[in-house]
This record gives sequence, structure tokens and C-alpha cells, in this order.
Amino acid sequence: MKGNVVTLTSNNRETILKIAKEQNIKIKSFCKRGICGRCLVKVIDGNVSRPTEKEIKKIGQSGIKEGYRLACQTQFSGRLKLEV
Ligand code: FES
Repeated sequence: MKGNVVTLTSNNRETILKIAKEQNIKIKSFCKRGICGRCLVKVIDGNVSRPTEKEIKKIGQSGIKEGYRLACQTQFSGRLKLEV
């Protein structure tokens, strides 16, 4: 994460990582399976899926409460503002 704030939009429910790639927004990733933690982003505004077990394990409940999520695991539809 570099602290860049971006806005994504999607009509379909997909992962943040997938939509970001489609919209030419670079988010670092490696495993794409919720293990490496490289795709960490911070959700600022928008409706996202509930945290997966992998996200809770990697980020912790307090990090999740602050908005941190794994872009390869978190899904959304509509409009999403996040720090990448
Ligand atoms: S790319 Fe490894 S946790 Fe998302």
C-alpha cells in the first residue's frame, strides 16, 4: 500500500483485485489465495463482502475494523473507495 486513494465501480460482484486490474489500477499481488498478504488495501467507503477466515487470520479483527482487507479475497459491487 502506498496510500493512493482510488475509486472502483463494478456492476458484478467480483474481487477488488479483479476489478482493479480491469480498471488499470495497480494493486500488488502474489498468491491470489489470501495467504501472502501482499494485496492489502484499506476500504474507505463502499459495501464489501464479509471477511473470510483467511483475512481474519492475516489481518486480525482490529485491522479488519480499521478497514484493512485483502484485495484478492474481498468482493464488492457498486462503488468502492479505497487506499491502495
Ligand atoms: S495476493 Fe496473496 S493474499 Fe492476496
